[in-house]
Amino acid sequence: MNALRKLWMALISVLERSTGGVSTRGGNVSAYNLVGNDQINVFLSPMQATAIYQLPAPVADFVGREGEIAVVLKAVQAGKPIGIFGLGGFGKTELARVVASRLAGNFPDAQLLISLQGGLKEPRRAEDALLNCLVALRALPPERNILNIRELQQLYLGALKGKRALVLLDDAANLKQVGPLLPPAGCALIITARSPIAVPGLERVLLDSLPQQEALQLFESIAKDIDRDIANQICSLCGFLPLAVRACATRLAYTPDLDPREYATRLEEENNRLTLIANPDIGGNIEAVLDSSYQLLNHVESTIFKRLAVFQGSWDSAAEEHICEDHSHQALTHLVKLSLVTFDKNQARYRFHDLVRLYASKKLDSSELDGQGQRTA
Ligand SMILES: Nc1ncnc2c1ncn2[C@@H]1O[C@H](COP(=O)(O)OP(=O)(O)OP(=O)(O)O)[C@@H](O)[C@H]1O
Ligand SMILES: [Mg+2]
Repeated sequence: MNALRKLWMALISVLERSTGGVSTRGGNVSAYNLVGNDQINVFLSPMQATAIYQLPAPVADFVGREGEIAVVLKAVQAGKPIGIFGLGGFGKTELARVVASRLAGNFPDAQLLISLQGGLKEPRRAEDALLNCLVALRALPPERNILNIRELQQLYLGALKGKRALVLLDDAANLKQVGPLLPPAGCALIITARSPIAVPGLERVLLDSLPQQEALQLFESIAKDIDRDIANQICSLCGFLPLAVRACATRLAYTPDLDPREYATRLEEENNRLTLIANPDIGGNIEAVLDSSYQLLNHVESTIFKRLAVFQGSWDSAAEEHICEDHSHQALTHLVKLSLVTFDKNQARYRFHDLVRLYASKKLDSSELDGQGQRTA
């Protein structure tokens, strides 16, 4: 009798007092009475347990990007959707996480992370992503009949309507995939993708490599007590690409018998650099990241991509059309769209990131070897 009374009183206290709370830890829906320090498991309708946080915290050693953070924060605070675009490994997802964590208090109902796997040959289907969201939002009807995409979308819009929610569509492939996942008005939307996605009204941030000082700061926060010149040399050999800087610094920090000067000297050799940067321990494999963009190219585009390795610095469209036999530089335009080539509007010139050029030239070498193999076969 006492236990029953205690349970009842606790339930009333949870529902009435602001000091109570609801948790879904361990798959159970639980109500907490913080006043008495008692935890009592009571059944609550799933729709009452609505706070959903799917966004992991950003890395603790995040550096810089204050300008870009300010742009994204401003857009989100103004209720405008925003896209963060750029080459793989530039830090699009990390930047989105930083903004989401700074704004966590503004979105107490839900922070949804929807991974769209745009880097894969077969990106995630919008209906699969919707289904996952509906499960997380506890908005799937219990009968769970097979629903078509329109029905799923309607349930998704209904579940988010009126909610203070932030939706991160991470690593999006294209507009077709993103369209059904656009949240209702009032929710914040951040999209990250390697290829810009033309969502109407979308603000845009184009990421590039880190500025030299920020790359150095990241490197030194991971690999401590390394001669400043060597640290600078390694960051520069990484083209200040955050993924690569982190991979090299982590390798040095966790390999006590790896001599930084020797490592830097080996990195100078262009043929080995991509392999030496790869750090399987942290998934910092720039070659794998570039592979996933490369496999999206058709035969003509991949041929031209490889031929572009002959340009050491920047180039213009006329030179490219001539040397790569790329009529109206169509393939080049597509490579820019995929962030594999950067276009400088002011100079009207194109360039590769240093590591992308090494990757293209490695591909060129291996396809020439394949060709020789075929000829001698
Ligand atoms: N400003 C930064 N400070 C510290 N680390 C960073 C920063 N930007 C990126 N990184 C690190 O670089 C790596 C790549 O970042 P991230 O995964 O965000 O790249 P991405 O642009 O989303 O790549 P992809 O297109 O492959 O999804 C991660 O290990 C991340 O922690
Ligand atoms: Mg990402």
